[in-house]
Amino acid sequence: MDPVANPYRPGAGRRPPLLAGREQLLASFDVLRRMAEEHGEGDRGWILNGLRGVGKTVLLNDFMRQVSNRGWIAAKVEAGAGTSLPVALNHSLVAALRTATGRHPEPRLRRLLGIFKAFSLTVDQAGTLSLGVDVQPIAGVADSGRLGEDLAALFEALGDTARDLGIGVLLLIDELQEASPEDLAAINSAVHRVGQSDIPAPLILVGAGLPSLPAQLAEATSYAERLYDYRPVGLLDDDSARQALVIPSAGGGATWDSSGLDVAVATAGGYPYFIQAIGKHVWDNARSTQIGPEDVEVGLAEAQREVDDGLYRSRWERATPAQRDLLRSLAAIGGERAVAVAEIVKAMGKVRTSDISVSRNELIKKGLVYAPERGLLAFTVPGMHAFISRQP
Ligand SMILES: Nc1ncnc2c1ncn2[C@@H]1O[C@H](COP(=O)(O)OP(=O)(O)OP(=O)(O)O)[C@@H](O)[C@H]1O
Ligand SMILES: [Mg+2]
Repeated sequence: MDPVANPYRPGAGRRPPLLAGREQLLASFDVLRRMAEEHGEGDRGWILNGLRGVGKTVLLNDFMRQVSNRGWIAAKVEAGAGTSLPVALNHSLVAALRTATGRHPEPRLRRLLGIFKAFSLTVDQAGTLSLGVDVQPIAGVADSGRLGEDLAALFEALGDTARDLGIGVLLLIDELQEASPEDLAAINSAVHRVGQSDIPAPLILVGAGLPSLPAQLAEATSYAERLYDYRPVGLLDDDSARQALVIPSAGGGATWDSSGLDVAVATAGGYPYFIQAIGKHVWDNARSTQIGPEDVEVGLAEAQREVDDGLYRSRWERATPAQRDLLRSLAAIGGERAVAVAEIVKAMGKVRTSDISVSRNELIKKGLVYAPERGLLAFTVPGMHAFISRQP
């Protein structure tokens, strides 16, 4: 079928034609949004934690789109992308406030802009900041230089203004596991303080990251467990995977024959990125709008190649021979599951945990594996174990 009309979107952060299996999460987000708009009130922030390629970024983008259409002050940043988190937040908020001043009567934003300017000059002395209006910094609110306190004051000022305007504030931080422990502690402490007001500011903070994120947050400040609503983002169940494949095709006038679809769903294993790759290649290879088992077979092989080359191989090649031995053991014993390090030690014919700790730590640093709990190890990417078992 015509590749130009292909609806599927394999990749990173690309909006899928159908956001399948996330109905509950989206409904809960809608409750938060309405609380902010109708009652001027916020709730606990969210942490979306999940493996690579399950759809965390896509969810953040969806939240962003929803509230941007409604005039909210909304900012999105990615931790660890070269700039420090406070500076990145600062830049993103500049853009959000610029949009807000175009949409809302500026006098009502004036105090916020002044506070923001003082904050901004504190976190980013080198930065060139332009809010597009003649703004005088307001000293003494969010410019102490202690990030946690300044962020809390800024969140409160943002919340007050938003409440006044009948909107909310949305702050999205992607790849939050990359933030430094100091930045995580500052964010936690700001969120903690804002949450203690009688009427919490109508500010929604959503952080997304790998499954190790909850533990990192808890390590940064002990009260983090109760500070956020943790929303694990997982693989899709078969029904959702089926919908993710079938509905976009139907939109383009094509139908899947049921036996081919069953094979596709079973192969995808509920992995959103793989589902998009399968949809894309099956579509491109289908000879007519009646997608049959042979079309699926050809498409699956190409999708597997795309995912192997685009996701698994580069990770595998980053590992040294000693690290690959460890990965092979992890794949053989656990597959998709987490495995006790002690078991891996035994399988590798070693004696002590310390015999593999260098490889283990390097692999964690390279982002190939993570420790879901102390003493355990698991892959950060779904399907990595199957790729490894195919390697000679
Ligand atoms: N609910 C969904 N239904 C169908 N496809 C989805 C869904 N969520 C995400 N996808 C697709 O999965 C792929 C990965 O999505 P995304 O980049 O958001 O994952 P991620 O969790 O942010 O990954 P990473 O941890 O690597 O940043 C994209 O191609 C996207 O279109
Ligand atoms: Mg992402």
